[in-house]
Amino acid sequence: MSTGNVSAAARTVATRPLASADLPRVLAIEAVSFPAPWSELLFREDISRPDRIWRVAEAQAGAAGTSVGDVEGDPGVGSGPEIVGFGGMMIVGDEAHLMDIAVAPELRHQGIARRLLWDLAADAHRRGAQRMTLEVRPSNTEALALYASCGFDVAGRRPNYYAETGEDALVLWSRPIAPQLRAMEAAREGADLILAIETSCDETAASVLRGGRDELSAVIASQIDFHARFGGVVPEIASRKHTEAVVAVAQEALDRAGLTFADLDALAVTQGPGLVGALVVGLAYAKGLALGTGLPLIGVNHLEGHIYASRLLDPDIEPPLIALLISGGHTAIIHVPAWGHYELLGRTLDDAAGEAFDKVAKLLGLGYPGGPVISRLAAEGDPDAIPFPRAMMKSGDFDVSLSGLKTAVIQYVERERAAGRELHVPNIAASFQAAVVDVQVAKTVRAAEEHGVGAVVLAGGVAANPALRDGLGAALEARGKRLSVPPFDLCTDNATMIAAAAHDHLVAGRLLGLSADAVPNMRLGH
Ligand code: KG4
Ligand code: ZN
Repeated sequence: MSTGNVSAAARTVATRPLASADLPRVLAIEAVSFPAPWSELLFREDISRPDRIWRVAEAQAGAAGTSVGDVEGDPGVGSGPEIVGFGGMMIVGDEAHLMDIAVAPELRHQGIARRLLWDLAADAHRRGAQRMTLEVRPSNTEALALYASCGFDVAGRRPNYYAETGEDALVLWSRPIAPQLRAMEAAREGADLILAIETSCDETAASVLRGGRDELSAVIASQIDFHARFGGVVPEIASRKHTEAVVAVAQEALDRAGLTFADLDALAVTQGPGLVGALVVGLAYAKGLALGTGLPLIGVNHLEGHIYASRLLDPDIEPPLIALLISGGHTAIIHVPAWGHYELLGRTLDDAAGEAFDKVAKLLGLGYPGGPVISRLAAEGDPDAIPFPRAMMKSGDFDVSLSGLKTAVIQYVERERAAGRELHVPNIAASFQAAVVDVQVAKTVRAAEEHGVGAVVLAGGVAANPALRDGLGAALEARGKRLSVPPFDLCTDNATMIAAAAHDHLVAGRLLGLSADAVPNMRLGH
């Protein structure tokens, strides 16, 4: 059985065909999972039928009850493998009807049900099934989330389907099984070819990546010139420009990689967070491509992509780590106990750091984007010239606030102008930048210390800022920790980072259906 690398538990879980000796444990899990559990007799009859496929998932000793980063294991678990879940399908022609899937309550949300589902799908496919289908209660949100994350779509509703309660059933269908299984297999071997598309903000980007690490091509069409005269991203313009560019950008990425759609294993797309009108363009295009080519589709959280960027040219970087995600749209400190697992420790309560750079630059008439020009001017100024506030420096949490700093800069500039004094722009830039950097460094270092991690990754456009890189790097080094910063073109928005994250989703069987929506406020973590 091949292994996934997303969840510690999933890594130690394997599935095998269900045997009648497994029934006592299976019945116990069934009983705590469903309001109307099947009887032993029903199970016995069903598993003996030739058109049925049943599997159990087993956790190796010590794995059950083990959450990420926890090596204690569950004291209740003996030495042998223990059954932690099971599932069954019925083969009807070229359809596989999923009848039942259940995981012991204390082990849910660790990828075990998904593993069962795809291993059953592989069995079903060997028996001729092309698609999977099932009925589920609309109230069963956990099950709906699982199937949505395996690329199922709701196809319809059967009224009054459940006799006991009169509840309706939702009818779900999977996408074609074969390409999905093939892509997962390629991903587990590190040979998958993914075309990723990113349109969450003001760059239309597409990249082709092999095995989650090896960039075969990366194309970015920047819209910066179209937004510059407005001093920020104009959502309407962003959507329109994405629409104009996305087809050619994706084709160019394929061309540069020397590939055609037929060579690919999967498509990936940023599903959120971002500007809804911008996200929708990339998602609609990717769904159209998925439909036309039959390729599996993977949805990626943009922020997760930024974190994965660090791994591309720093392959030794391994969780547990702290990520400082700092861009024009986001400023957050995130604990990453394992790849694919995130704990948001703190974030900005108002402006993002890049936004603050952009607003201060606009105030000083320096153009857009503001970060690069402010950091260039700051290099010639005195960071101690003006004592701008360090908001929330001592708040004891990991949140930050930047709007007060922005206001302080505005008031300072107005005061100086009113007094008829000439502005010393390099000093303002350096002092503003130092106020931003001091708070970010202090909070990020404390997060690393409190969580006992050895490494911090910087992500997002503001990671290009030399004062931040140097300040954070030195503070971490002094504590025996290391900083990983991606090269500049991987810090700013790009599709390579989306493909890198998508590779791990594919290994874990996390796919998107064709009715998936853009999620402008998508949160990190599943
Ligand atoms: O990650 P990104 O490309 O887009 C977002 O997702 O927001 O980040 C762009 C942001 C802009 O606000 C820009 O001003 C800022 O990153 N930035 C910088 C620097 N270079 C870019 N901020 C500070 N110093 C820099 N050198
Ligand atoms: Zn970004």
